[in-house]
Amino acid sequence: MDLGIKGRKAIVCAASKGLGRACAFSLAREGVDVVITARTAETLERTAEDIRLATGVSVTAVAGDITTEAGRDAALAACPEPDILVNNAGGPPAGDFRNWDRDTWIRAIDGNMLTPIFLIRAVVDGMCARGFGRIVNITSASVKSPIPTLGMSNGARAGLTGFVAGLARQVARHNVTINNLLPGPFLTDRLRGTANPPPGKTVEDVIAERAANSPAGRVGDPAEFGEACAFLCGAQAGFIVGQNLLLDGGAFNATLG
Ligand SMILES: NC(=O)c1ccc[n+]([C@@H]2O[C@H](COP(=O)([O-])OP(=O)(O)OC[C@H]3O[C@@H](n4cnc5c(N)ncnc54)[C@H](OP(=O)(O)O)[C@@H]3O)[C@@H](O)[C@H]2O)c1
Repeated sequence: MDLGIKGRKAIVCAASKGLGRACAFSLAREGVDVVITARTAETLERTAEDIRLATGVSVTAVAGDITTEAGRDAALAACPEPDILVNNAGGPPAGDFRNWDRDTWIRAIDGNMLTPIFLIRAVVDGMCARGFGRIVNITSASVKSPIPTLGMSNGARAGLTGFVAGLARQVARHNVTINNLLPGPFLTDRLRGTANPPPGKTVEDVIAERAANSPAGRVGDPAEFGEACAFLCGAQAGFIVGQNLLLDGGAFNATLG
């Protein structure tokens, strides 16, 4: 299926590894020129080169922390009028909410709620004026089904989800869509880093258990996530507005989502 976005321009945040990288790859395969960001320049440049070699599109690597104003400004300077914006950043740490002070919470809210909102604010009016825009926010399955140890993720991402639900309906008539992708367990560094194996078990043991307990019998492949993102960014996806698409292999047990 041709998604009809060849020649479009995208900013994909936090995209040197994992889910962001997969989204950038899938968009690039559709012929979209991508600006990708991450804090570590070396890994980011390697990913940029991988995407260039595999797809031939223009790939610009912008090293910086997307949760800072400077990081966002740098990404926007490299692509002032994106057609597509994929919001992503690292997830907040796990732990017990009793140990989180105000600064810790503010960092989580900055990263997983305010950063996407400020990027949307920077680009959405231009998208409306041009009559095309696709914004995808990478959130988490924790928005639908809270993960006890990831309270900051549950909270900050739910805040973004509520904001987006309102804004998506205000811009849809301009062929600008805003949707959220909710990953369950995908095999990335983040999944390994939050596995937290009990004594006597390895990270691999924990991931294997999660896979075995999933209706799909496995964890997700980031490439699958990237393809879902590209689909939501496609020309044909203009009637998909303000949705929260769960990619979790069926782990969320419900008759209706
Ligand atoms: N994988 C899962 O199973 C899963 C499940 C639910 C939710 N999520 C969420 O999905 C998002 C992506 O996760 P992932 O699994 O793809 O993680 P990952 O494999 O650890 O990759 C994270 C990427 O984001 C970049 N990054 C992190 N913080 C950044 C920042 N402040 N500014 C710019 N770039 C930044 C990293 O590069 P640098 O470190 O060099 O900046 C890296 O490229 C996270 O918010 C995560 O919590 C993931």
